[in-house]
Amino acid sequence: MERLSTGVEGLDALIEGGIPRGFFVAVTGEPGCGKTILSIHFTAKGIEEGDRCVYVTSEESRSSILTQASMLGMDLKAAVENKKLIIIDALMGLEDRWSLTSLDVDHLLEKVIEAKKELGYGRARLVIDSMSAFWLDKPVMARRHSYTVKKVLSKWDFTTLAVSQYAITTSEAFGWGIEHVADGIIRFRRAIREGVLRRYVLVEKMRQTNHSTVMHTIEILPGKGLVIGKPAVTRREDFALPSKVTRKVLRSKREAEQEIP
Ligand SMILES: Nc1ncnc2c1ncn2[C@@H]1O[C@H](COP(=O)(O)OP(=O)(O)O)[C@@H](O)[C@H]1O
Ligand SMILES: [Mg+2]
Repeated sequence: MERLSTGVEGLDALIEGGIPRGFFVAVTGEPGCGKTILSIHFTAKGIEEGDRCVYVTSEESRSSILTQASMLGMDLKAAVENKKLIIIDALMGLEDRWSLTSLDVDHLLEKVIEAKKELGYGRARLVIDSMSAFWLDKPVMARRHSYTVKKVLSKWDFTTLAVSQYAITTSEAFGWGIEHVADGIIRFRRAIREGVLRRYVLVEKMRQTNHSTVMHTIEILPGKGLVIGKPAVTRREDFALPSKVTRKVLRSKREAEQEIP
């Protein structure tokens, strides 16, 4: 089976070498966990391997992604100039060819396909960072939109990372969507232990893969980026919510599910 390296050695090791070609993988977690950093690694690796790369950014500007990449030692700017990478800016509302003027799923798909045509035939990588932005005001549509995105894009030889934000308070996605249609789920987490922010990654799902089921610590290092550390030994109370909160979350989730059109 052909697998695409994520660009993070330690993560590849957890998934038998990489993500199967054509997969649609959800990257989930609370803010500041490393979702964008992983997305940048995945893109830079694609460029190194000669893939056509498209990066949709809805939470940071195009220039912020380029700056972040260069701080971690990855030159995405050159890739844009050499027409190996198209960064679609969905934040700034600019009027240039590679910007989205609205956070609309059909508009997104049109633009991504236009970018793929521009880059040419062949193996391609796509990052949508994040998908949550496309249904922030209508979370009940998350699943339907995710399904549409996956279905349409499957025809274009993309291997996709679709980022989904989880709220800090509940560790829940804004709307249930990507996880249900995804071929894989890479889950980032965070916890504060003795006053220090710790970050973790866990592969929750990867179809057709004998993946690790152990949560690992991660570090983000200047000039280097994401580094997978040791298996994490954690206590339940690091992540679990008080039962009262859990009950409330479950109740509102049940209500939301009933509203799905
Ligand atoms: N140059 C850097 N050196 C060290 N850590 C960095 C650097 N750039 C970013 N980080 C770390 O990465 C975090 C942001 O990670 P990011 O992937 O953008 O989070 P998110 O999951 O919200 O997308 C920052 O809060 C910081 O801790
Ligand atoms: Mg991000």
